[in-house]
Amino acid sequence: MTKQHRSIAIDGPSGAGKSTLARRLAETLGYLYVDTGAIYRTVGLYAFRAGVNPADGGAVIPLLKEIQIRLAYGADGLQHMYLNGEDVTGEIRHHEISAYASAVSAIPEVRAFLLAQQRALAEEHDVVMDGRDIGTVVLPDADVKIFLTAAPEARARRRWLELRERGQETPFDTVLRDLLERDERDTKRAAAPLRQAEDAVLADTTEKDLEQSLALLTQIAKEHLGA
Ligand code: DC
Repeated sequence: MTKQHRSIAIDGPSGAGKSTLARRLAETLGYLYVDTGAIYRTVGLYAFRAGVNPADGGAVIPLLKEIQIRLAYGADGLQHMYLNGEDVTGEIRHHEISAYASAVSAIPEVRAFLLAQQRALAEEHDVVMDGRDIGTVVLPDADVKIFLTAAPEARARRRWLELRERGQETPFDTVLRDLLERDERDTKRAAAPLRQAEDAVLADTTEKDLEQSLALLTQIAKEHLGA
């Protein structure tokens, strides 16, 4: 199969600035931005609504046949998530859905269920795709792979500010604790754990603001794309 489209894989733990940076990078390059965490969040939301334990594969796997997930890009340019036809873009961002998304994402059948959809997007478009296993599993032949990270406190602080901007007042300590728990689960799980691909470039944003981080990513991307 000849590869017709360019792809940039950005992986890393939560709060490293992946989604904002990946979106901005996609804008700069004119690529489609795909937030794969939102897809896992949509499955997490379904499990939450169904009242099942999201870590229980026996309870989650039968739900998959009831779930239809669609991504669409609104007039606002944002990626909207549709769960069985309902726009759940806002709802999947709730703090408690993060833990559900992380738990369901450890189930191999859930990952397999979502894999083809993610690959199809990269076959149809030039993409900047962010997640945990994009460079390692979803797009192992990506043109550019970036592993984006930052110190846990810096990531928790960004997440806390983001939640506050959305009107969700969560104590900083809770955000940090949840983030560390999620890091632990995402890196230790057996199925496609979060890890840096051997050919990924490491970008640490602890000491960088958004614009500096974007400049770094743009530079890495352009170097590897030969642009
Ligand atoms: O990026 P995020 O915080 O919205 O992702 C939510 C959860 O989904 C995260 O804790 C792990 C999981 N996830 C994954 O396992 N693989 C991906 N490619 C993206 C997200």
